[in-house]
Amino acid sequence: MRATESFRIEPLSSVHDRSGFSSGSAPLDRYFREQASQDVKRRIATCFVAVNAQTGEVGGFYTLAATSIVLDALTPDIAKKLPRYPVVPAALLGRLAVSGRCQGKGLGSALLGDALIRTSRTEIGVFVMLVDAKDDAAQRFYERYGFSLLPGEVRRLSLPIATALRQLATMHVPTKRP
Ligand SMILES: CC(C)(COP(=O)(O)OP(=O)(O)OC[C@H]1O[C@@H](n2cnc3c(N)ncnc32)[C@H](O)[C@@H]1OP(=O)(O)O)[C@@H](O)C(=O)NCCC(=O)NCCS
Repeated sequence: MRATESFRIEPLSSVHDRSGFSSGSAPLDRYFREQASQDVKRRIATCFVAVNAQTGEVGGFYTLAATSIVLDALTPDIAKKLPRYPVVPAALLGRLAVSGRCQGKGLGSALLGDALIRTSRTEIGVFVMLVDAKDDAAQRFYERYGFSLLPGEVRRLSLPIATALRQLATMHVPTKRP
């Protein structure tokens, strides 16, 4: 990725070429190439892509889906501030990947910021974003942005949307809104 490259983030559609996408994670690449558009069509998830404004190349993507979490599965300091409803509405950032060529240039954090902003703007109540980190490195990436491991979970992390909004000012979100 050259310093002059700029990206816009938009919903996945048939105009996006997914065939050559390669993030270094075979399951994520396979999902993006073979499954993502099916999930969108069936309303299982939404998928957003970072598109190079000059070339149209897809530099990264993420998926979002509605989910919920049992109140007591949240960290106690967060749960204690909430009404004692049994479950809390959540958004699942199911997948996030940046193409190898574009990694390390801020695109992953831009996509994460975009996911948090879109979630905060939805007209349905969403208290918290959940992510499943695929390995230690991914976990560290999410922890940089305030996600914390849920009690008793190995790789599932959470970040309240309100907390994220307070932090977004410090995040790099350089892309144009669609
Ligand atoms: C993880 C991933 C999405 C990060 O995207 P990226 O565009 O390379 O990340 P950024 O350039 O936005 O990095 C933002 C910050 O996170 C840090 N970071 C990036 N990847 C990291 C990692 N694997 N571990 C720890 N920190 C990481 C960067 O050093 C950077 O910090 P800085 O601002 O102080 O320099 C990308 O590397 C990727 O797609 N990896 C393969 C798939 C994957 O692991 N997906 C995670 C979901 S399970």
